[in-house]
Amino acid sequence: MATSTHKLSAHQVSGPIGYLNGTFAELKDLHVSVLDRGFLYGDGCYEVIPAYSKKPFLLEPHLDRLVKNLAKIRIPLTHSLEEITGIISELLALSTSEFNYIYLQYTRGTYPTREHVFPAVIQPSLFAYAMPFTPPTLETSSRGLKAITAKDIRWDRCDIKSVSLLGNILLRQQSQDLNADETILLRDGYVTEASVSNVFIVKSETILTPPLSYQLLPGITRGLVIELAKEQGILCQETPITEAQLKDADEIWVTSSTKEIMPISTLNGENVGTFPKKPVWERLFKAYQARKNA
Ligand code: PDD
Repeated sequence: MATSTHKLSAHQVSGPIGYLNGTFAELKDLHVSVLDRGFLYGDGCYEVIPAYSKKPFLLEPHLDRLVKNLAKIRIPLTHSLEEITGIISELLALSTSEFNYIYLQYTRGTYPTREHVFPAVIQPSLFAYAMPFTPPTLETSSRGLKAITAKDIRWDRCDIKSVSLLGNILLRQQSQDLNADETILLRDGYVTEASVSNVFIVKSETILTPPLSYQLLPGITRGLVIELAKEQGILCQETPITEAQLKDADEIWVTSSTKEIMPISTLNGENVGTFPKKPVWERLFKAYQARKNA
């Protein structure tokens, strides 16, 4: 059950807007308790949903993944999908930007004491905000991102979009420290995903991406890229990718809701395959833009 909402009007707003358990306010004015289990344990899950011209993109699969993740971690969904959609619409209406991403987070909630075991009655906390962002363009994406590889040190349920992101942030920082933009992760010699995105490679005009498992997030962008490749008549295989195949790829891409499809220019400082030529990426990038504008 959702609590009653306290609304803002657009003229009251100067910074990014958030929603916390029934209250809309500027993000800087929203506060959670130190006893919230999201704060104490990272006990929750989240979604990041892009919105173009104030319209959420691929909202249905994002909400579907949220519902599935909540079930996996046994947090009850206390809002209807219509209520959540209404909160998102309100945040987008209040945003001063046409382009935003929506952050949506459910934690197990706040209780009087810190106790690992779930409370008998779970009263989750719902937090959301709209953050202005600049979507990638053909020009900005064409420059590519620098990536490094690192051992995937995370737990064995990376299919859950958990707010416990310590592994991911340590891995992302590794690339930052080397002046790179993303870290591609290897587990037992195979690519899983990257620290904040999924991974695709192209070899001899075939697209390859690791199959879904507990070791990677079922990215919404990943799903759309697979669908668009089929539409374009390009062979796309969900198949294990070895470190050797990654290093020998013609093209490497990473995908996420905010990066969309980004080509990788260098891997561990070495030029990737045919980069800056990336003909398969260009077809998929255009197909993705067409789907966004549809
Ligand atoms: N993260 N894998 C990981 C580890 C991610 O963090 C993300 C995205 C993805 C791509 O998922 P999607 O296509 O559904 O965005 C894959 C978001 C954007 C974030 O944490 O900010």
